[in-house]
Amino acid sequence: MKNNIILIGFMGSGKTSVGRLLADRTGYYFKDTDELIVDKEGREIEEIFHTHGEDYFRNLETELLETVMDDLDKTVLSTGGGIPVRDRNVNLLRKMGHIIYLRTSTSTIIKRLAGDTSRPLLQGDNPSEKVERLLSSRVPIYERAADIIIDTDDKSKAQIVNEIRRRLNHLL
Ligand code: S3P
Repeated sequence: MKNNIILIGFMGSGKTSVGRLLADRTGYYFKDTDELIVDKEGREIEEIFHTHGEDYFRNLETELLETVMDDLDKTVLSTGGGIPVRDRNVNLLRKMGHIIYLRTSTSTIIKRLAGDTSRPLLQGDNPSEKVERLLSSRVPIYERAADIIIDTDDKSKAQIVNEIRRRLNHLL
């Protein structure tokens, strides 16, 4: 089934807020992998990382995709920024729908995430350097996984949503 829209991209690229608006405008359902994991586990992402580590969280992400993939229908799925790092996850996402990469520059991400305390991978000293390092390793992965790339810098949520709808006009 290919009638879902999957949003991928780095932390702070607007996947959740754009995804909600896109769902609102199109009448699609909205789901967010982080929210589904938090609901299922009954605790926040930081706590899961803190107690069990990153690998455990990555396994939860893959399990979640395996569980939801057959049930998704006309859904905008916003994904955690690390999901495309596993090839297995990308293969699952491809089966679910059209993959849209919300591409955002390093400087915009750094500005948006300044002072953020909810992303375990960016805590501690020099979060900007962490963003730079992680983003440069992930950009090629996001670009390879994407069916459609939308540059989001200096665009409003509504502009981004309109652009996605234009690019998917056979679907929406
Ligand atoms: C992560 C991104 C986060 C969340 C977790 C790990 C990542 O989601 O899944 O903190 O590895 O990029 P957002 O992209 O929604 O912030």
